[in-house]
Amino acid sequence: MSELRTRDVVDADLPAVLAIRNRSFGPLGTGGDAWWQRVSAETLGGRMIAVVDESDTVLGAGRIRPYEQAWGGRHLRMGGVAGVYVEPSARGRGVATTLTRALITRMGELGDVLSCLFPTTATLYRRSGYELGGVQTRTTYAAHHLRDLGSSRTGRGSSHGLRPAMPADAERMHELARAASARHGASGPMVRPVTAYTGMLERGELIAYVVDGGFVVYDLSEEAVTVEELVATTPDAAATLWGVVGSGSSATPTVHTYLDPRDPVALVLGGLPTTQVQQAPWMARVVDLEAAFERRGFGAHSSLEVALLVDDLEAPANAGLWTLTVSGGQGTATRTAGAPVRGDGDTPVADGITSNERADGAAEEALRVGARGLAALWCGWSVSRLRQAGLASGGSPDADAALDTVFTCAPFITEYF
Ligand SMILES: CC(C)(COP(=O)(O)OP(=O)(O)OC[C@H]1O[C@@H](n2cnc3c(N)ncnc32)[C@H](O)[C@@H]1OP(=O)(O)O)[C@@H](O)C(=O)NCCC(=O)NCCS
Repeated sequence: MSELRTRDVVDADLPAVLAIRNRSFGPLGTGGDAWWQRVSAETLGGRMIAVVDESDTVLGAGRIRPYEQAWGGRHLRMGGVAGVYVEPSARGRGVATTLTRALITRMGELGDVLSCLFPTTATLYRRSGYELGGVQTRTTYAAHHLRDLGSSRTGRGSSHGLRPAMPADAERMHELARAASARHGASGPMVRPVTAYTGMLERGELIAYVVDGGFVVYDLSEEAVTVEELVATTPDAAATLWGVVGSGSSATPTVHTYLDPRDPVALVLGGLPTTQVQQAPWMARVVDLEAAFERRGFGAHSSLEVALLVDDLEAPANAGLWTLTVSGGQGTATRTAGAPVRGDGDTPVADGITSNERADGAAEEALRVGARGLAALWCGWSVSRLRQAGLASGGSPDADAALDTVFTCAPFITEYF
């Protein structure tokens, strides 16, 4: 097998990378060229990595999209891994595995404390410490129910400042979206940067309306309206925006939504969503536990301390014995004094724990997880479920309950990338 090496993708590599992309997913469709230019510009110069052979031929590539993602209502830097493809003739030789590991190292260097991705195969990413975090949910409503919301609340002619969104609204839309995930204490959704709203509005790709205290972004095809985002700070704003979405029920009776599965519209609608729900699973990985934990939001009324032993080959920043403390909504992860860090000279023993760790009584008592267990725990899988999946060992019933309290969440991602 030829020797594999990773390096940054440079401008001159783009045709080769695009050729591999097209051999993996077929040719780019309408608007594909503009999309390719955009994603390349976003990630060239540090966020697009290639695997090359000894003659520097590109065998595979992947991108790290720079996202801001809510966890417990606070916003963390998340690397969205996308565009992972390997030249068909070079598959099955560990190219993608080499690439994934390089992407994780790079995210650590860039300060992306977490990573998420929509996988086509779970095994590849599990090898590098990713685990299923949640799903992107598409919920479908009858447009006339949404239309009823608008007319019942606002009456005919009442508009509450309703108008089409313009590029100058981008900053306000970003602020409203950010405030909404904070208000709901949401975990999972990403906030589009101001530039993404501006670009989307300038290109007129999607239909967008603003109202006093909210906005909606949706797409329209012959078959259905698809709501990408709807943010409202008041019942009136929500009703007005949903009313706009449902107003075309005569021509387009179906409305798909990619929103929080617990969007409050479900509590006010005069009808149920249809039973056909589509879900796209996504995976997550913790890249830098200390920084991620400090930035995540926690319940203001929780106050506790619990130990956690983490074994993580690909992200050594996570490895070691940790004390996790939560108080007043703020978390702190402290690597316990004297706890060994992988790579600092300790001799690893058979199952990944270092000899010093084995000697350390505290480590013996702590719940022990690998990178996949840590990812699942971060995403709100209870310790009992991790144990059943063989992703956690050790610990105690009391510590399990504390960890469940710390990480409780039902994370969702609304944007596919
Ligand atoms: C998926 C893909 C990136 C894997 O590349 P690769 O270099 O062959 O991967 P590796 O050799 O590192 O294999 C790692 C593991 O991934 C898994 N894997 C790879 N291809 C797979 C496939 N087609 N189906 C299921 N699992 C697969 C296997 O578990 C494999 O380990 P194993 O060979 O020991 O069983 C490559 O097949 C590809 O480009 N596919 C088309 C595009 C795509 O799906 N990209 C992923 C987007 S998330």
